[in-house]
Amino acid sequence: MNLEVNLAGLRLKNPFMPASGTFAYGVEFLDRKDEIDITEFGAIVTKGISLRERFGNPPERIAEVPCGLLNSIGLENIGLERFLKEKWPLLKEIGVPVIVNIFGEKEEEFEILSEELDRAKVHALEVNLSCPNVDKGGMEFGQDRKVTGRIVEIVKGKFKAGPVFVKLAPNFVNIIEVAKVCEKKGADGLSLINTIMGMAIDVEKREFLISRGVAGLSGPAIHPISLYIVYRVYQEVKIPIIGVGGVYDYRSAIEFLMVGAKAVQIGSMIFVEPGIINKIIRDTKDYMRRHKIDDIKKIIGCMQKVKKGE
Ligand SMILES: Cc1cc2nc3c(=O)[nH]c(=O)nc-3n(C[C@H](O)[C@H](O)[C@H](O)COP(=O)(O)O)c2cc1C
Repeated sequence: MNLEVNLAGLRLKNPFMPASGTFAYGVEFLDRKDEIDITEFGAIVTKGISLRERFGNPPERIAEVPCGLLNSIGLENIGLERFLKEKWPLLKEIGVPVIVNIFGEKEEEFEILSEELDRAKVHALEVNLSCPNVDKGGMEFGQDRKVTGRIVEIVKGKFKAGPVFVKLAPNFVNIIEVAKVCEKKGADGLSLINTIMGMAIDVEKREFLISRGVAGLSGPAIHPISLYIVYRVYQEVKIPIIGVGGVYDYRSAIEFLMVGAKAVQIGSMIFVEPGIINKIIRDTKDYMRRHKIDDIKKIIGCMQKVKKGE
């Protein structure tokens, strides 16, 4: 039985990997092998890395809502220098492709990050464009097509060590048009989707559940939305798509493959069930056995009218 996929040149032994920000830097889980075996993953995706260390937003910054999770962590992370010193040397020895998620507050930061991570020869980048652009008064990079195009050009100009995936959110944008700009400017793939803006209120206290008010919604609540977005964007671009949003079991993961995603990320549900990625890999194999599917590629895109080759 073959679960291998070629994701823009990255050879993955299966399509399943954690979503950025829900699995730390990956290496933290190396000594929890009885529960989580990261050597079985298709890839590892790191927490978003910025040029400098960030402490994120004050609490409350995470809250459960029906079928989902609201978060406004504020992109807390250890920064490029510490990542390269403390995490990358361990990560690169695991034997699983590592996709490093990056973000910046200014265009120049994306440039330096790409240059340094190219020098370190990380296997791939995932560029998070759902972060505030300081030069545009805090508007998200991904909400401006021109800025999006420029960032993709900058990153592609500096990072040669592997493919560049661009991660987009569907907040106040025509995500199909933004996806097309990414493809035109040379992105090797797309990660769809990041969290959807949302909020919740404690009506007794008249307080937002998340201190900042606005937060990102993730978890099963967003799965039908992310599935539809992958379905639609697949019809408009040739580059591969990584489906992400609300995966909670092998069925919801396989749905992404069926609408054309080449790989699938699992995020919020890791907090509920830390071993979920290993379980999805096992259950997908069982699904393939039950349905006599010898190669996972036979599922990819099977629910699309538009057919695409490898
Ligand atoms: C606590 C938390 C932290 C996150 N941090 C990042 C991040 O640093 N970079 C990023 O691109 N996405 C980040 N995300 C978004 C996830 O990678 C993913 O796109 C989103 O949660 C939808 O997937 P899910 O429903 O499976 O969680 C974060 C999500 C959560 C819940």
